Amino acid sequence: MSTRATVTVFVPGDAGAVSLGADAVASELARECRRRELPVRIVRNGSRGLYWLEPLVEVVTPAGRVAYGPVTAADVPALLAAGLLEGAPHALRLGDIEQHDWLRSQQRLTAARVGIVDPSDIDDYVAHGGYVGLNSALTMQPQEIVRAVTDSGLRGRGGAAFPTGIKWQTVHDQQAPQKYIACNADEGDSGTFSDRMLMEGDPFALIEGMTIAGLAVGATQGYIYLRVEYPHAARALARALHVARERGYLGCNLRNSARDFDIAVRVGAGAYICGEETSMLESLEGRRGEVRVRPPLPAIKGLFGQPTVVNNVVTLATVPVILARGAAIYRDFGLGKSRGTVPLQLAGNVKQGGLVERAFGLTVNQLVYDYGGGTASGRPVRAVQIGGPLGAYLPPAEFDTPLEYEALSARGGLLGHAGVVVFDDTVDMARMARFALEFCALESCGKCTPCRVGSTRGVELVDRIIAKRGHGAADVALLDELCDTMANGSLCGLGGLTPFPVRSALKHFAEDFR
Ligand SMILES: Cc1cc2nc3c(=O)[nH]c(=O)nc-3n(C[C@H](O)[C@H](O)[C@H](O)COP(=O)(O)O)c2cc1C
Ligand code: SF4
Repeated sequence: MSTRATVTVFVPGDAGAVSLGADAVASELARECRRRELPVRIVRNGSRGLYWLEPLVEVVTPAGRVAYGPVTAADVPALLAAGLLEGAPHALRLGDIEQHDWLRSQQRLTAARVGIVDPSDIDDYVAHGGYVGLNSALTMQPQEIVRAVTDSGLRGRGGAAFPTGIKWQTVHDQQAPQKYIACNADEGDSGTFSDRMLMEGDPFALIEGMTIAGLAVGATQGYIYLRVEYPHAARALARALHVARERGYLGCNLRNSARDFDIAVRVGAGAYICGEETSMLESLEGRRGEVRVRPPLPAIKGLFGQPTVVNNVVTLATVPVILARGAAIYRDFGLGKSRGTVPLQLAGNVKQGGLVERAFGLTVNQLVYDYGGGTASGRPVRAVQIGGPLGAYLPPAEFDTPLEYEALSARGGLLGHAGVVVFDDTVDMARMARFALEFCALESCGKCTPCRVGSTRGVELVDRIIAKRGHGAADVALLDELCDTMANGSLCGLGGLTPFPVRSALKHFAEDFR
């Protein structure tokens, strides 16, 4: 065997990178290095979020980490021959990826460690600033923790943008024998993947955030409601939860604090509506995912009838940053009432898709062109949909809109979970309006009439409009009226927000309906 020092090579185990061949690259690298008697340690890290460069392999050299990408398994022998393990030149060599404009211009707070650390190694997490927030929270009174989160201006990143501190205060103020932290990891919105990237690339951040939430409100049990489509995240979480428990960061008397908190993972069954918080609670209790009537709010009567904090993965994974660096530092990022940073997810027909974490306020133009580089097809951009399947379509004339809650709301849209999907000029917006209604019909829980029946009637109406192109003015008016009924009469956001994509398509792309 060689007397060379062992070289660490990072090959992402992130589901997106795996779908692009990262597992095959890791196997081939291990096999070739064994054959050549080259000692390597392969770490399956998260993705840095530059998906067009995945699988992105990084080699640790005395001069720092050197990246290569996109690497295929077939490239591995030539890369090794060229001196991959020394960071040598090669056509695929990208150098220090942190100096890449795409990453250098970002303001990564929540996703700061994703792609950098070994997601299964708690010592690596601690070495990169992990558990500073929890250690600080352990010295604080619960009310002080809640105040820090309130002062930071953090609003829920799951879609509704509700102030997290107010939600926590409500649960904190309840007298109850048991309280819960329920993490919403259903991530059903089209074009979104920040929850997945965090859970796969930095699972301890979510665990730490949930633990701090438990200390703040007096909850001793947490649940992560994970969508079934995320098996890689399930494995990363299972590993991290086991290690955290073993090392005293979870369980009874955590960190010798005389405080208890533990977390269990529950896997959903693939229904979009189970991302709505009350449906999620029904599903967690073992029932069919159906929306509950509010009040009572989950913060007062939630899981198993007890006060429950329901927060999104990104929201909870941001809490350690606030406790570690201070509420004021976090609040200093952002625009207006949208404080802090937001992990934007750029997808669809775009040249350079991936994760862009920036302070609120980046414009759609900057995201789509400066980061995205325009469409993958090379054709002009015609529309973007922001905020998942219930979000509005924006035309290029409105791409000066800053990506923050109030600005998007003023333009008839929403930021939602901050997914941005790009379409080129071949898109037929009447068909996209139909798709929104069809999606609603398929995913409706069926509890209220405007959504259950309205979505199906809406599909029929759009079909008639498409069939009669040019003679459907009365049907267009009827569709608008139906949108009114759904927006005002639906029990939850699925029926209530489906009019957003439909109306924005009608407003900005009327020619597709004529
Ligand atoms: C139809 C529908 C689907 C939703 N899906 C999700 C989801 O997948 N993940 C999520 O975090 N929030 C989702 N939400 C929002 C949740 O109801 C809730 O507001 C959120 O989990 C609260 O966490 P936050 O305050 O941290 O955002 C959805 C809402 C609706 C109406
Ligand atoms: S709007 Fe749709 S999904 Fe929501 S409660 Fe009504 S039927 Fe169920």
